[in-house]
Amino acid sequence: MNPAVDVSIGEYLETERARVDQELDRILPPESEPPASIHRAMRYSVLAGGKRLRPILCLECGRLFGVDDEALVTAAAALELVHTYSLIHDDLPAMDNDDLRRGKPTNHRVFGEALAILAGDGLLTLAFEVIAEVRAIPADLQIRIVHELAYALGTRGLIGGQVADLAAASQEVKEDTLHYIHRTKTGALICASARTGALIAGAPEDDVARVTEYGERVGLAFQIVDDLLDVVGTEQELGKAVHKDGDHRKATYPAFYGVEESRRLAERLVRQACEALAPYGGRARRLEEIAHFLITRQS
Ligand code: IPE
Ligand code: IPE
Ligand code: MG
Ligand code: MG
Ligand code: MG
Repeated sequence: MNPAVDVSIGEYLETERARVDQELDRILPPESEPPASIHRAMRYSVLAGGKRLRPILCLECGRLFGVDDEALVTAAAALELVHTYSLIHDDLPAMDNDDLRRGKPTNHRVFGEALAILAGDGLLTLAFEVIAEVRAIPADLQIRIVHELAYALGTRGLIGGQVADLAAASQEVKEDTLHYIHRTKTGALICASARTGALIAGAPEDDVARVTEYGERVGLAFQIVDDLLDVVGTEQELGKAVHKDGDHRKATYPAFYGVEESRRLAERLVRQACEALAPYGGRARRLEEIAHFLITRQS
C-alpha cells in the first residue's frame, strides 16, 4: 500500500524506513544459514540503522509515475544493500579507518577485516541477485536497471570517486576535482536510486531526465551536507566520528569554500533539484520535502 498523503515529513520518513527495513530483513540471508559468520556480519551493518534515503528516493520516484510499492520495494531495498557495502568498505583501516558507524562499532571492529571485506562483497552481489529476481519488473527494464546501477557503482562512478577521494587527501585539489569526487562517490548512487524508481514505473525518457536532474542535484547536496556535518555535527546524532575529514585532510566543500558558502551551495542545489520537478506540481511534494530534509538534517 502506498503511504498516506497527509502525514508530516518526519512521520512519512519513519513509516518508509520501517517498510524498507522489513524488506531488508526478508532479503538478507538469516544469521543461522551457513556460513553463519558472513550472514551475521552482513545483517549487523545493514540492520544497524540508517536513514534509508536511497530506497526512499527509489520508492518515491516510482510512485511519482503511478507504480505500486510492490514492484518497487525489493529494488529499493537492494539499493540499501549496495550503500551499506560502500560504508563497510569506506570504514576499513585501508580507507577512512573509522571505528563507529550507525552508532555501533564498524563491521571490521566486530568481525575482523577479512569478514568485513567479504560482507561488503556479499551485500553488493546480493543486491544484483535480488534485482534480477523481481518478477514485477519486465526483463528488458531489469537489464537496463542492472546495467545503470553497475555503471554508477563502477570506476566511472562510486569506486572512481572513492579512489579520487583517497588520492586527494593531503593534496591541493581544484574545484573540478572536488566536484568530481562528490558527484561520483555519493551522487552517482543517489541519482541511480531516483532513476531506478522512475525506470521501474516505466516513465518516459523526458520524465527520467527530470528525475535525473533532481537526483544529481540532491546527490551532490547530500555529500556537501555530509562534509558540513563532519565540521558542525555531533558524534551522538550522526552515529559516527566527527572532525575526521579535517584530521585526514580530505578534500571537502567546507575545506574549499568555508562552512557558510558550502551551506549556500547545498541550499541552491536543493532549490534547483525541486525546480526540475516543477512540472509535476503537488505530486512531487514528498520529493521536494525529502530534498529540504537533507539539508536541514542533523544526522
Ligand atoms: C553516509 O551516508 C555516507 C555518505 C555517502 C555520505 P548516509 O548519511 O546516507 O548514511 P546512513 O545510511 O544514514 O547511515
Ligand atoms: C562516503 O563518504 C562515500 C561512500 C561510502 C561511497 P565519506 O567517507 O565522507 O562518508 P562518511 O562520512 O564516512 O559516512
Ligand atoms: Mg570516505
Ligand atoms: Mg568515511
Ligand atoms: Mg563524510
